[in-house]
Amino acid sequence: MNARERAVLAGYISRGDRVLEVGTADGVTCAWLADKCPKADFLSVDTFPGKADGVTGALGDKERWAKNKRQNMELYVGTVAQCIKDHPKVRCEVAIVDGEHTYKACAADIAAVLRVLTAAGVLACHDYAHRKNGVKQAVDEAVAAGKLKLLEVAGSMAFLEAVV
Ligand SMILES: C[S@@+](CC[C@H](N)C(=O)[O-])C[C@H]1O[C@@H](n2cnc3c(N)ncnc32)[C@H](O)[C@@H]1O
Repeated sequence: MNARERAVLAGYISRGDRVLEVGTADGVTCAWLADKCPKADFLSVDTFPGKADGVTGALGDKERWAKNKRQNMELYVGTVAQCIKDHPKVRCEVAIVDGEHTYKACAADIAAVLRVLTAAGVLACHDYAHRKNGVKQAVDEAVAAGKLKLLEVAGSMAFLEAVV
């Protein structure tokens, strides 16, 4: 995630928000956001080892994530669907989807996140603007289905609002 994408993302996070990040890798972006938004709580989900995202090839590492951990960061190892099953009370005001970037995986992550995103919550989908993956198709389908409203695209990241 580049500096501009991070800065725009931070602007959507308010004091007291719960942020759910799907695909955290080494937790670098999450640590930056956690420092920038110390009054927000961050839950990151990653399969460790996961499949490469198809754009950067980035693969996370649990030990490196632990070194980047801040006091307002928590980690769940597995998929977001498994996380919600294990923790049915999980809710978030902001969600970031940046896991495996195939259409099938991204659509599944979006569907799972929409079950826990609060009304008018914000979803950020990374690599939306890259053509060589399925993120754009998965996001555009959710918008066409009336589940999400596109707010803006900054860099390669789409910012969307959950439709109530
Ligand atoms: C692009 S990296 C994430 C980068 C991170 N968001 C950042 O900005 O620093 C993609 C990560 O998604 C993980 N991943 C792949 N498939 C996943 C899935 N189904 N659920 C959760 N994480 C997954 C990979 O293990 C990898 O660490």
